[in-house]
Amino acid sequence: SIDIATLTKQTGFTTFDSGFVNTAATKSAITYIDGEHGILRYRGYPIEQIAQNSSFLETAWLLIYGELPSESELSAFDNRIRRHTLLHEDLRRFFDALPHNAHPMSVLSAGVSALSTYYQDSLNPKDPEQVELSMIRLLAKLPVMAAYAHKKSIGHAFLYPDNSLSFVDNFIKLNFGTLAEPYLVNPVVSKALERLLMLHEDHEQNASTSAVRLVGSTEANLFASVSGGINALSGPLHGGANEAVLTMLSDIKASGEGVQKYVERVKNKEAGVRLMGFGHRVYKNYDPRAKLVKESADAVLEALGVKDDLLDIAKELEFIALNDDYFKERKLYPNVDFYTGVIYKAMGFPPRMFTVLFAIGRLPGWIAHWREMNLDPTTKIGRPQQLYTGAIARDYPRA
Ligand code: ACO
Repeated sequence: SIDIATLTKQTGFTTFDSGFVNTAATKSAITYIDGEHGILRYRGYPIEQIAQNSSFLETAWLLIYGELPSESELSAFDNRIRRHTLLHEDLRRFFDALPHNAHPMSVLSAGVSALSTYYQDSLNPKDPEQVELSMIRLLAKLPVMAAYAHKKSIGHAFLYPDNSLSFVDNFIKLNFGTLAEPYLVNPVVSKALERLLMLHEDHEQNASTSAVRLVGSTEANLFASVSGGINALSGPLHGGANEAVLTMLSDIKASGEGVQKYVERVKNKEAGVRLMGFGHRVYKNYDPRAKLVKESADAVLEALGVKDDLLDIAKELEFIALNDDYFKERKLYPNVDFYTGVIYKAMGFPPRMFTVLFAIGRLPGWIAHWREMNLDPTTKIGRPQQLYTGAIARDYPRA
């Protein structure tokens, strides 16, 4: 066998693959996807079994270290994360300087970037102890910063984390608790949110994970790399789709045009009209995560006593699309984002927070990939080739 770098040197050939449709940029042992058959496994374990049996932090450990933790490893991991939830007070006040109407994803990426300025003792990607510390800090502080972004957007006072609570419950309280009265986390919300976060924990070389790897390949620190990932996730073709789905469903409802009419506009490729939450670069079958989320949607709304027309519209959209040749020929199925927004809305999150929830879920995957890359001695700086299409050489006109 011959590696691609040697082949390129020997032959002078460059492959052109816009959007990396068929180019593997790395080897990885973290997540397996078979897009034709709708299969997703974390470290070999089927996503359905993970969703049924695991917890967010246990799955995070599995992704990062490769095996399920023992009870004592998990409890030490959990305790360590709880001890790092507080933000430096100056960093907490940093949020005051940002506009209240900023998108929470922009606030989150700015906050994660700022971690490099406050925690300078954990920036060296080649020092295993510093790497461990930065991972713990990020896992502990990202949900706190996410809740601050939410509180800021609604003009409410920030709460301090409550380390007697689990990872997910602490996050829920930081979002929905107030300084005015005690707050009890609803176990239905807690269980459902934990399940959704688990379903988002990793998805191999998606755009945001590739961004984390590309930034990290320069030996940039974990905070800088993950901040890059958050920015990549924010776009509507990636994580931003969960917010875009809710906007689409709300627009369909408000316009009164009916679902079938909207589908016709999608098929006619009207500018800017797509079926958001549908289609996937890798899945050419039903996204296994979407199946699990759809199961949750009915159960959670019922348990919370919420009736939402948008869920009915989503189901009608899915039914029409799955029975329409346009979508069948292109193998377009609901992806993970299609039903999540309806559940997040029922929990009380505003649509602008949806992609932030995705970011919290995806954090363990970003960390696992960044760590895997840094531990691999064969890692090279990511540096794609280009096919130059500009002027070859010309003289400057005002010589
Ligand atoms: N609605 C309507 N048509 C679609 C959709 C869609 N959601 N997705 C793809 N198509 C059509 C395209 O128009 C194209 O048709 P054509 O061959 O007639 O030109 C064909 O299907 C192939 O589409 P591409 O854009 O080439 O597929 P690609 O793999 O590049 O894009 C993507 C994948 C970005 C996810 C796309 O399906 C999309 O835009 N979906 C909506 C946004 C979304 O839900 N993103 C979340 C993805 S999952 C995640 O990141 C968590």
